[in-house]
Amino acid sequence: MFTKYRSYIIEAREVRPSFIGMNAALTASKYLYRPVEGVNMVIRVRSSRFKSVSGNALASAIHTLATSSIPYFLANYEPNWLGIAAYIEVSGGNSRIYAASLTLKKGMRISNSRISRSIDVFIVCDREGSIDPKKLASEWHRLVWSFIVSTLRASGKMVSQDHAPPPIRRYTIVLHLVPETKIEYVEVKVPEAHDVIVVKVPIKGPEWSLDDVPEKLKQDLETVIVNPIKQRAAYAPRGVMITGPPGVGKTVTAEAIAHKLGLRIAEIRPSIYRSMWYGMTEKILDGILRTLKKRSNILVLLDDVDYLLGRHVSIHETHISEITIMLRYLQEPKRPLVVMTTNAPELLDPAIVRPGRIDVVIVMGYPDREMRRRIALKCVERYGIRYDEKVIDTIVSITRWFTNAEIDALIRLAASKGGGKLDEESIMWARQKFNINEGMRRAIQDQLRWFGERFQGIILKYVPKESEI
Ligand SMILES: Nc1ncnc2c1ncn2[C@@H]1O[C@H](COP(=O)(O)OP(=O)(O)OP(=O)(O)O)[C@@H](O)[C@H]1O
Ligand SMILES: [Mg+2]
Repeated sequence: MFTKYRSYIIEAREVRPSFIGMNAALTASKYLYRPVEGVNMVIRVRSSRFKSVSGNALASAIHTLATSSIPYFLANYEPNWLGIAAYIEVSGGNSRIYAASLTLKKGMRISNSRISRSIDVFIVCDREGSIDPKKLASEWHRLVWSFIVSTLRASGKMVSQDHAPPPIRRYTIVLHLVPETKIEYVEVKVPEAHDVIVVKVPIKGPEWSLDDVPEKLKQDLETVIVNPIKQRAAYAPRGVMITGPPGVGKTVTAEAIAHKLGLRIAEIRPSIYRSMWYGMTEKILDGILRTLKKRSNILVLLDDVDYLLGRHVSIHETHISEITIMLRYLQEPKRPLVVMTTNAPELLDPAIVRPGRIDVVIVMGYPDREMRRRIALKCVERYGIRYDEKVIDTIVSITRWFTNAEIDALIRLAASKGGGKLDEESIMWARQKFNINEGMRRAIQDQLRWFGERFQGIILKYVPKESEI
């Protein structure tokens, strides 16, 4: 019966539990359009929500499976179809059914003979992939079946027979709701002389949101980048560069864009693709970009991209090919959104940052008072640090010309001194440990403003004036 074994992964976006069933149902119905007898199909739906959601809430997904996917699969193939969907949770050898449903064609009556003859489709869902599809034949099906029979009996609906045997089922689908792990990889296979090299590109969910981006920038980001992409407008930007001194939230902003767009992040670093073998670096980079191009839910992040030095600075042959590959990729029409960050935009190849490849440049400077307050509040929350309201005012006033990263470091240092609590004393103590060259930073901020003026193309600026700092 279980000769056919297929497995599919659905990369769910951040979905509500009630949509999980829908999501899975759509995918399953696509593959079951021409069902094969006795198909044993495993579908994995990944989302970061599954960990925090209760079993009861997840069980509601069954409703969608029962009411939309089962009829959809079977309408064309079975004159009088009948299906079961169930949600089971297994932990340490114990299993518990949260929900099960029997779906039959409208107008059909539940009768003993029909039910004990055959179930056409049997879908069982679980969390964390604990259900072993090979055991499904006996254990889980029996469990679900007796649950259904006893529930129906209790409501006087059916079955005079005492021990109705579990019916035979024709199409079996196991749906694993897998909590998303922090690091996940896209595997890229690159052919080499007599072999295939497998490169793993890490994919992660964004950890920051637009609330962590300066208010002034946030609105521009939504108008210029997020909304057009969401509307799938042909004119939407597809390449973004974020520049500014170290620690002012460039990477955070890149993640926030991904977060707002519901995208996961594939970060490409030279350490992933550079090879000591002649010609391999280019092949691997090309392979990675090609593979990622097929994924729709991804943002490609080239963080601290200074390694893509301009052709005017570098003369290394491999290096120049890397840039050429990037240039070509950035030009391709149907590719994922690419976000680059760098401290030194003047070192990049000018051809990379021209519109059409990089459409929008974001310039970020040292944070103003309002932003420093938000950073401070975020940090105390993030690290679970106790504080009085007044202390936040003090932090804002003593961190002029600090970067986001330095404010974060100051708060952690003060919390260590204060034993998990921030007070005036611990903050002032921590402030003494920081050496900030205001004059130099003022000059950097001026340079950023100047870069903003000189740059040709679309530019979004967050470069607070001295009076705002
Ligand atoms: N909005 C924020 N709220 C709280 N902390 C923040 C915020 N933005 C940035 N930080 C802190 O500052 C750190 C540095 O931010 P980020 O990594 O985005 O800087 P960057 O500009 O990318 O720096 P680099 O150029 O060195 O890569 C973060 O790891 C975080 O601890
Ligand atoms: Mg960074």
